Amino acid sequence: MVKPVIFAICLGVLLSKALSIPLRSFADIELIGSQKSLFPFLGGSAPYFSFPANYGIPTDIPEGCRLTQVQMIGRHGERYPTRSEAKDIFEVWYKISNYTGKYEGSLSFLNNGYEFFIPDESLLEMETTLQNSIDVLNPYTEEMNAKRHAREFLAKYGKLMENCTNFPIFTTNSKRIYDTAQYFAEALGDGFNISLQTLSENSSSGANTLAAKSSCPNWNSNANNDILMSYSRDYLENISDRLNDENKGLNLSRKDAAALFLGVPSS
Ligand SMILES: *[C@@H]1O[C@H](CO)[C@@H](O)[C@H](O)[C@H]1NC(C)=O
Ligand SMILES: *[C@@H]1O[C@H](CO)[C@@H](O)[C@H](O)[C@H]1NC(C)=O
Ligand SMILES: *[C@@H]1O[C@H](CO)[C@@H](O)[C@H](O)[C@H]1NC(C)=O
Ligand SMILES: *[C@@H]1O[C@H](CO)[C@@H](O)[C@H](O)[C@H]1NC(C)=O
Ligand SMILES: *[C@@H]1O[C@H](CO)[C@@H](O)[C@H](O)[C@H]1NC(C)=O
Ligand SMILES: *[C@@H]1O[C@H](CO)[C@@H](O)[C@H](O)[C@H]1NC(C)=O
Repeated sequence: MVKPVIFAICLGVLLSKALSIPLRSFADIELIGSQKSLFPFLGGSAPYFSFPANYGIPTDIPEGCRLTQVQMIGRHGERYPTRSEAKDIFEVWYKISNYTGKYEGSLSFLNNGYEFFIPDESLLEMETTLQNSIDVLNPYTEEMNAKRHAREFLAKYGKLMENCTNFPIFTTNSKRIYDTAQYFAEALGDGFNISLQTLSENSSSGANTLAAKSSCPNWNSNANNDILMSYSRDYLENISDRLNDENKGLNLSRKDAAALFLGVPSS
């Protein structure tokens, strides 16, 4: 007998950031979607890309076996920066936007009417959607990503679901995760009767959660700090030095250079 298909779209940590390339000129249009090669170098701050090495368990069905059940666990997709990241981003943006000289060198693209990619603070923490993107041509919205994921899921497992049209999708109460689950469910189409079930991320949830950060007493965000600290951060100073040399008086700090990775222009 085919067991019900159960999905969980979950987990509270961030995958990738909102990047939107403002529409200014023909040259900008040509750049849209052309800078994927940068993504692996942004320290996780990039739209989703498939990790370029072998990863995970192959999804081919082993010989002699029959697939009877699929459980999918997903994350939220591209989002605007979090509130805490935004503090650093705004700080560097204020320095850059209050600079009175002509931008030189790597920052010279700002002379062409760059539009800051966070038009409104209410967008912080939110998923990127077609509606809240500055540029409707943004190819990296979470909305499109979740919907594409659903279509791929249907292509792969649709047959298995032919007798299973009523099922729940579980999500956490984080808005961006809820939104991802909803876009995924929507894109599965009218043939399914899906109930979206919300499980809280609050500490009071105990083990009844999909994102066990607050509710897991042993969770330690700093567990691997010693490993992180063993890597040099000189490259940040080099970046700020280079930008400051090109733009006298800009006075970017190492921290500012780090904030540039968090979503300030990648174009
Ligand atoms: C200039 O910087 C200040 C904070 O120091 C900020 O309040 C202001 O909005 C900035 N101006 C612009 C145009 O970004
Ligand atoms: C769905 O039900 C039909 C009729 O009982 C059956 O022939 C078919 O194999 C079922 N599909 C799956 C994927 O189990
Ligand atoms: C859809 O699912 C709900 C439970 O979430 C159920 O109450 C309802 O009867 C279902 N509707 C159909 C048409 O199967
Ligand atoms: C979250 O958990 C705390 C501590 O367990 C509890 O006091 C609070 O009422 C919970 N909040 C919600 C919205 O459930
Ligand atoms: C930083 O710049 C110095 C001086 O140019 C150079 O020797 C060093 O290799 C650079 N470090 C990194 C990480 O790029
Ligand atoms: C940049 O730093 C120099 C030296 O510390 C200082 O004289 C100058 O006022 C600063 N410029 C700005 C725009 O903060």
